[in-house]
Amino acid sequence: MHSDVNSFLALMYLVFGAIAVAIMLELKGKPKDRIHTRAFVLTHKLLGYSFVAIFVFMLVYMIKKVGAYQDEVNTRTVIHIALAISTVPLLILKIAIVRKYRVLTSSLLTLGAGIFTISTVFVAFTAGYYYLHQSDIRYTSITSVDKDILDNDTGRHFVFKRCGKCHTLERVFRSFKTKTGWSKTVNYMAKIDAPNIRPYEIKQIINFLINQQERQKKNETDEVAQEIGKTLLQKKCTLCHDLERVITASKTETEWQFTVERMINHMGDPDFLSPDDKNVLVKYFMYFQGAT
Ligand code: HEC
Ligand code: HEC
Repeated sequence: MHSDVNSFLALMYLVFGAIAVAIMLELKGKPKDRIHTRAFVLTHKLLGYSFVAIFVFMLVYMIKKVGAYQDEVNTRTVIHIALAISTVPLLILKIAIVRKYRVLTSSLLTLGAGIFTISTVFVAFTAGYYYLHQSDIRYTSITSVDKDILDNDTGRHFVFKRCGKCHTLERVFRSFKTKTGWSKTVNYMAKIDAPNIRPYEIKQIINFLINQQERQKKNETDEVAQEIGKTLLQKKCTLCHDLERVITASKTETEWQFTVERMINHMGDPDFLSPDDKNVLVKYFMYFQGAT
């Protein structure tokens, strides 16, 4: 759910609650004024049920969200949840009195006021915090002046610290994005986790993710080259002698270049190995020697 929708629902929740309490106050406080009683009671009921509906909706959303957290939740969230859940029995009690235990009707106003008070506290507790930190939430991207502060290890540190909270880090490392793409994603994550991910951290994280993606890409290119090298070796270098002769040899890169060149001459066919194939093959031998 978008955070604006979230804020809107929270606001509606409090407004409905406030009006419902005000109506009750009006009805109980001025019992003589009987003209609009029916309309008042109906409005109160409607608001009451909307209040409960929003509450249940947000509760389910909240439980789902927290349930998906990989990390321990912070104190603010714990208090928010504890207060929210504490209104559940009060709401049930209130509905039970309205529907079944009419004799106790006199306690409804107090109960309603209590539920509204707790709701105000837990909404204000979180909303207020975000409101106070709102200036921290702005779009951050890497610019040329940031070059000096950017550091891979710092970036990695923040990715591990910040990005595994709501989903696995696998989700982060599996994604491939352009620089702009990463800027957008990291900023979005910072927004929904506001104000925990700071602008400085956003820059480091974007930088690290772009770099690690490039490294990964390079590794993949290397892997492809190695596969090609292996195939060329098996196809082209076993025509006149066995593989044994090739893989037991140990040479420098230049020596391999000369050897392969000589083999091309032995073959006497200019199309036997293209210059690219030759390079890939020599690289493969170097890799092979290094790896064994
Ligand atoms: C407050 C919780 C939270 C935190 C912290 C968080 N994420 Fe996410 N992330 C989400 C949610 C929720 C989604 C799914 C939202 C969607 O798909 O629109 C998501 C989806 C993603 C995706 C997949 C969707 C896409 O846009 O590619 C990536 C990649 C990602 N997050 C990266 C990160 C990175 C990098 C960080 C650390 C800077 C991070 N997340 C921190 C909640 C979080
Ligand atoms: C046309 C036949 C032919 C083909 C194809 C061929 N070789 Fe040879 N190879 C030879 C002959 C003949 C010798 C022995 C004479 C020499 O060393 O030049 C040899 C010897 C070698 C030796 C041992 C000598 C040294 O310099 O260490 C290596 C290693 C070798 N080949 C590697 C390769 C590789 C790699 C390929 C694939 C690109 C290949 N050969 C393809 C004919 C061939």
